[in-house]
Amino acid sequence: MSGSPVKIAILFSGRGSNMRTLARHIARDNVPAELVLTVTNRPNAAGIAVAEAEGIACTIIDHEAFDSREAFDAELDATLRATGVELICCAGFMRLLTADFVNGWPDRLLNIHPSLLPKYKGLHTHKRALEAGDAEHGCTIHYMRPQMDDGPIILQKKVPVLADDTPETLAARVIEQEHIAYAQALDIALTKMAGA
Ligand code: GRF
Repeated sequence: MSGSPVKIAILFSGRGSNMRTLARHIARDNVPAELVLTVTNRPNAAGIAVAEAEGIACTIIDHEAFDSREAFDAELDATLRATGVELICCAGFMRLLTADFVNGWPDRLLNIHPSLLPKYKGLHTHKRALEAGDAEHGCTIHYMRPQMDDGPIILQKKVPVLADDTPETLAARVIEQEHIAYAQALDIALTKMAGA
């Protein structure tokens, strides 16, 4: 390995709080990485202003401007490769990626999911955990594989489910742990890359 910082991109679709936490971790905590790009598929994403405030480039690739999933993914892939990206962090990126795209970034594509995988893949995880009467809930950071919310787990953080929780109060408890977990998971992934 060259010893030069690993070039990272973050993909997001919404609010961008995980993106902000990762950006600050990379900038402030002596992480051997450089955040070169953020990309969103939603032109109105609140996270665009977050990227701006953090001083990070944000490219908008509006998925609605593409005829097919393959065409969107090809543009995304070309954008990332043109910037020399080596590791991608999906942080609230609410779009399925094709198997071709995912297979093109083996162990270089991380995702965060707001449940203790393999429980509750997909949407509405907090509501589903409450409906199931779970005592614990949490979040997972994992390497992506072509199946949705699937792949080797890097780390998980648990939170208790309280008797009076709503999906919103539970989500608020989980997102706090997401922020801590994603920074730690990035460190683990970078350490693995350095040793590879
Ligand atoms: C997070 O809970 C993430 O796990 C989920 O969507 C939410 C995104 O939040 N997939 P943010 O955009 O990082 O604030």
